[in-house]
Amino acid sequence: MSVPPLRVALVAKRALAALPGLRAAGAVVCAVCETDPQQLARMGEACGLPESRRLSDYADVLCSEADAVVVGTPMHLHAPQAIAALEAGRHVMSAVTAAVSLDQCRALAAACERARAHGLVYMMDENACFRRHTVLIRSLVRRGAFGDVYYAEGEYLHDVKHLHHGPDGAPTWRSTWQVGRNGCTYGTHSLGPILQWLQGTSTGYPDPIASVSCLGSGRHTDPEHAMEDTVVMLCKLASGRLARVRVDMLSNRPQAVSNYTLQGTEGAYESQRASGERHRVWLSTRRERSWQELDDFADDLPEWYRTLASQATEGGHGGGDFFTAWWFAQACLGIREVPITPEAALNWTAAGLVSQDSIRQGGMPLPVPGWAELARAPG
Ligand SMILES: NC(=O)c1ccc[n+]([C@@H]2O[C@H](COP(=O)([O-])OP(=O)(O)OC[C@H]3O[C@@H](n4cnc5c(N)ncnc54)[C@H](O)[C@@H]3O)[C@@H](O)[C@H]2O)c1
Repeated sequence: MSVPPLRVALVAKRALAALPGLRAAGAVVCAVCETDPQQLARMGEACGLPESRRLSDYADVLCSEADAVVVGTPMHLHAPQAIAALEAGRHVMSAVTAAVSLDQCRALAAACERARAHGLVYMMDENACFRRHTVLIRSLVRRGAFGDVYYAEGEYLHDVKHLHHGPDGAPTWRSTWQVGRNGCTYGTHSLGPILQWLQGTSTGYPDPIASVSCLGSGRHTDPEHAMEDTVVMLCKLASGRLARVRVDMLSNRPQAVSNYTLQGTEGAYESQRASGERHRVWLSTRRERSWQELDDFADDLPEWYRTLASQATEGGHGGGDFFTAWWFAQACLGIREVPITPEAALNWTAAGLVSQDSIRQGGMPLPVPGWAELARAPG
């Protein structure tokens, strides 16, 4: 007997990035939702949907036949929309970050616990975890090539000053939620891959961030915003391992959103930092002190990646958008484990939120609430 396809609703234009990966997993898009009529028309056309399936009110998505919802709206809407969808019996893939306050984190964690009991999936759409180099490093970590990994860095350097105001000069949601707060407000593109490496797994979450300390550089480039130009967050994991994240969305410079470092007892990785540079790996088995190219280890890419790589790289963010959607659909169908679990999503998100208190207190290390503490709270 054939399994009916997963029916998915795409909410806001960013969710369209999931279309190729969903289709490759055999899912069908049954509805789209946008509040901007032009974007709604564009999404409807891309998905080949009639007018009746082009919705402008999110409440109608939750009354539609969709089994799953991809939430691609501005940051402050992620948690309320995800909770509403889970409560309505839908699987959810949410854009980053998962929430914009610890209260939202608590409500979402509780909703995820309730939904999990009904077999529903919540996954965060952290596409940085599915770029070729981050997947390949994860494979190398898992086969022990780096030994015991204990330190990692990630940087998200993306001058998006032009997105902080709309054409009419009014501040956008980015102005409020990304640079309107001081701290590591948008750290998950860095935290996602490096925390997965330090965990040694993409699904379990044995070693969460336990505390964070955050400092900034001061306001120099565009001082109207609360966020300091460069913000650095140190994350201490429950095991004692250390991660450092730098986020900068204001400084004048070319973008570098995928800078990473990893150190283990038997090896190290340094990512490309500018276009034209190579990703480099050094392993102690090599004996010489010179680096090898990461591509020398391409055979370590997992089979699912190699099978779909040529399709995936046609999508956005170096295949990341394709694979997050493909994994999400597979997880909803029970074929594969959820790769970016509620525990991971909310640990990475909560760390960034606690960093805002830390920076206010001069970099004081502060505890990050764990899953049990978040999910215990009434939703
Ligand atoms: N993972 C990534 O690489 C990546 C890349 C870009 C954006 N994002 C995330 O995606 C989200 C959207 O970013 P963006 O750049 O598209 O923002 P944007 O401001 O360009 O677009 C937001 C869109 O959401 C629509 N919208 C607002 N409220 C809505 C609602 N209630 N229902 C339906 N549609 C609604 C708006 O009409 C608008 O078209 C953000 O959370 C951002 O962080 C992630």
